[in-house]
Amino acid sequence: MDSSIEKIDIDKHLELVIETAVNITKAKAGSLLLLNPKTEKLFFKIATGEGAKKIKKFEIELGQGIAGTVAKTGKSILSGDVSKDKNWNKTISEAIGYRTHSIACVPMKIKNRIIGVVEIIDKTDNSVLDENNLEILSHFADLAAKSIEDVQNAQVIQQENEALKEKLSDKHQIIGNNKDFILVINQAKKVAKSKASTMILGESGTGKELIAALIHNEGSRKNREMVIINCAALPDTLLEAELFGYEKGAYTGAIQRKIGKFELANKSTIFLDEIAEMKPEMQAKMLRVLQEGVFSRIGGNTSIKVDVRIISATNKNIIEEIEKGNFREDLYFRLNVVQLKLPPLRERKDDIALLSDYFIEKYAHEMDYALPVKISKDALEKMTVYTWPGNIRELANAIERALVMGSGKEIVPEDLPIKSINKKRTSLEFGLTLKDAIRKFKEEFISLNLINTSNNKTKAAKIMGIQRTYLSRLIAKYDLK
Ligand SMILES: Nc1ncnc2c1ncn2[C@@H]1O[C@H](COP(=O)(O)OP(=O)(O)OP(=O)(O)O)[C@@H](O)[C@H]1O
Ligand SMILES: [Mg+2]
Repeated sequence: MDSSIEKIDIDKHLELVIETAVNITKAKAGSLLLLNPKTEKLFFKIATGEGAKKIKKFEIELGQGIAGTVAKTGKSILSGDVSKDKNWNKTISEAIGYRTHSIACVPMKIKNRIIGVVEIIDKTDNSVLDENNLEILSHFADLAAKSIEDVQNAQVIQQENEALKEKLSDKHQIIGNNKDFILVINQAKKVAKSKASTMILGESGTGKELIAALIHNEGSRKNREMVIINCAALPDTLLEAELFGYEKGAYTGAIQRKIGKFELANKSTIFLDEIAEMKPEMQAKMLRVLQEGVFSRIGGNTSIKVDVRIISATNKNIIEEIEKGNFREDLYFRLNVVQLKLPPLRERKDDIALLSDYFIEKYAHEMDYALPVKISKDALEKMTVYTWPGNIRELANAIERALVMGSGKEIVPEDLPIKSINKKRTSLEFGLTLKDAIRKFKEEFISLNLINTSNNKTKAAKIMGIQRTYLSRLIAKYDLK
């Protein structure tokens, strides 16, 4: 935390408080001492007057001298002649070569806890400090204590804020170095600067919500919270009420006005998750709102205009849903001004080690593991050949389980709740002709590439370095699916 600015401000402020106290009481010098609760010693925070520089080196035990006694008892001391005061300790006076005559010293308290003392020494006209001066001084002591309390409170709030921010940024940490994945991240960062409606596609657990949060947090709306609604979670009528709100009495049970998510998302972002699950009637209403830019609460007739950025997501094949007549094409065009497509994990296997390390550290930290947990070579191998239908979420769960059930030192293949996929080319065996062996190898090699590209022939062909048409021919020839 950077508290240097506050530190300068509070020091200056306290100095001003002491100087003013000194001036008003016409004293020769004044100082403010703070109690270090750990060492139980007072140190000079502020000192004015002749010996100010020298005096700052001294520390005073609790109960020692006049200041120490005030700090210990919490009671003010006024002494017209210190040489006659039993509490007086002349060490400091002598050390700095200044002879003190009279002194007024009052405690500083925060909520009845003593945090230090304020004192003034001698009058400029050589008269004696009196009750009146003591009273004035106690007001300044209160003022100083209040300022210190404010700074302490501000520091606590700031620390809480930092912690919260850290927590949030941790929640939204995005891990990945894969080329295709980075491309999507960069697109997301770019679109964040605009208000363009964005649709995020990707299989379950690929990080769609994470990307939505990234778009929101990298844009100008980041100071407001992103509003999330899952379109699959609610039946139509409830979804409408949730999105647009309702007026009191709109239906039985509507005992008071409800503000909908669209209104809540004003000047912010709404994330329409699982958009493909939205029913046709709701899609029609949604389209109208997007076209006209206004809506009304259910049962109300005032038009409400909001400024909302829209991000939607689905793990369905949305084009297929349109073709099947399940999703309106016109709504799709409105939502899909920019489209981001997240690759499944099996197409970014080069990120598996990185992601594993990240989740190991994350969960080990949550579980308070003392030692660093490693992942064995075999376990990583098992993870790399696996196809991860549940994507990153499944990987995170697998790591978490491995940490809970494993030895706590090293993750081994048995700790991972995933199917073993035998990578050995078992079909290549002794006794085959070269022609048959080549055929078997080709079949397996092509299958491997198709599985890892979700049957994307263009991609698979590119990876294998062959023409797409040639790949299609091979697939037909070997009767591969
Ligand atoms: N690149 C990543 N780095 C770190 N964590 C990730 C990454 N991608 C996803 N995750 C984590 O994996 C989990 C699933 O991600 P998220 O909820 O964003 O996926 P989704 O695509 O919305 O899934 P679904 O379609 O099931 O709703 C979350 O806990 C998320 O934090
Ligand atoms: Mg999601």
